[in-house]
Amino acid sequence: MTSSEQRLVRNVAGLRCRECGSEQPVGPSHVCGFCFGPLEPVYDDAVVAARAHRDVITAGPATLWRYAPLLPIVRDGPLPDDLGTGLSPLRPAPRLAARLGLGRLWLKDDTRNPSGSFKDRVVSVALQAARAFGIETLACASTGNLANSVAAHAAHAGMDAYVFVPHDLEEAKIVSSAVYGANVVAVKGSYDDVNRLCAEAADDLGWGFANVNLRAYYAEGSKTLGFEVAEQLGWRLPDHVVVPVASGSQLTKVHRAFRELVRHGLVDDHPTRISGAQAAGCNPVAAAFKAGRDVIRPVKADTIAKSLAIGNPADGYYAVNVVRDTGGEVDDVTDDEIRDGMRLLAETEGIFAETAGGVTIATLAKLARRGSVTPGEQVVAMITGNGLKTVESLTGHVGPAFHIEPSLDAFGRQLRSRG
Ligand SMILES: Cc1ncc(COP(=O)(O)O)c(C=O)c1O
Ligand SMILES: [Zn+2]
Repeated sequence: MTSSEQRLVRNVAGLRCRECGSEQPVGPSHVCGFCFGPLEPVYDDAVVAARAHRDVITAGPATLWRYAPLLPIVRDGPLPDDLGTGLSPLRPAPRLAARLGLGRLWLKDDTRNPSGSFKDRVVSVALQAARAFGIETLACASTGNLANSVAAHAAHAGMDAYVFVPHDLEEAKIVSSAVYGANVVAVKGSYDDVNRLCAEAADDLGWGFANVNLRAYYAEGSKTLGFEVAEQLGWRLPDHVVVPVASGSQLTKVHRAFRELVRHGLVDDHPTRISGAQAAGCNPVAAAFKAGRDVIRPVKADTIAKSLAIGNPADGYYAVNVVRDTGGEVDDVTDDEIRDGMRLLAETEGIFAETAGGVTIATLAKLARRGSVTPGEQVVAMITGNGLKTVESLTGHVGPAFHIEPSLDAFGRQLRSRG
């Protein structure tokens, strides 16, 4: 074991299978050797308890590394030098709340991360794990945002990057990966095809695939969304959180974050309902929830919300169970509703989110209409990606108010004709 590996092990005692509970040593492995279940870090509770205090966290940097005691990363010595991921604004949204008939609504604005999505959180953590294991090439299977993030963070860290994406992604997401010098591998297939290919490649190549062989560490980065929401609400848990769902990892980990905060005495226990949001064109988790099933039936994705277009979600089963256990719901919305959601969010609160944000807001609107979210609840909606990445989803739907010749006269005539 290298000295950097030993540093990583200080927080984390090992990896444990979510299915059969068997344990194995810390390393770049992603599935249980016995049952192929997903692996998760097991923290050394005594080590965490000694450092996870509110004052230590609030005195930390204005990035997700303030929660280092609760992440699989060394806690002594300098914190990682990354691009400044995390501690994104939690914005009160009174105008949007009024439009939706809600009382107290907050938006977690992760459009503000270095590469414009919450994926910077998971990549920041995965990159540290890669470093600890002596891996020099960072890779991923991505619906777009993860590729952008891997490309940016690898460039900053001086690592090589290979990002595998479906060939028909939004232009901005391809450009925003390639510009960092990453090798963009456009695969003629769906995300699920890309993911399968990367699972094989990860075994073969010895690279650090953020969401494949580093997934146990990567997924822990999503907990920081939950940690930040609680801290930003004054160390309290909200009543209800609405989370966009692709693989289902973020939803599962936000729940985990809240439970860990309670376990370590950082917040009082409080029941938080967790609801999921999907596109109707890729709704395997919503369909399972509505049918009362645990089993996720894979679907073929067809939606403008390409970042959420995972037809066979790795953590779908766990996400449905978290939603049921907490009294939340999962619903899905059409492409037209997604565009309406993007516009409503932008017009009322000045936040331009990508299609995933439209999914979240449109689903929240649907839940509010049928009384599944109530005006008495303190609600947080996760806005996870920047709208500039998916501009084409609005092309032809949003445009100039006036088309005029360059004269004041022409403008005046148009203004008057509008009344
Ligand atoms: C913008 C955005 N929001 C939400 C998600 C959903 O994340 P998860 O796969 O953890 O469910 C993704 C996944 O790619 C995403 O790109
Ligand atoms: Zn197992």
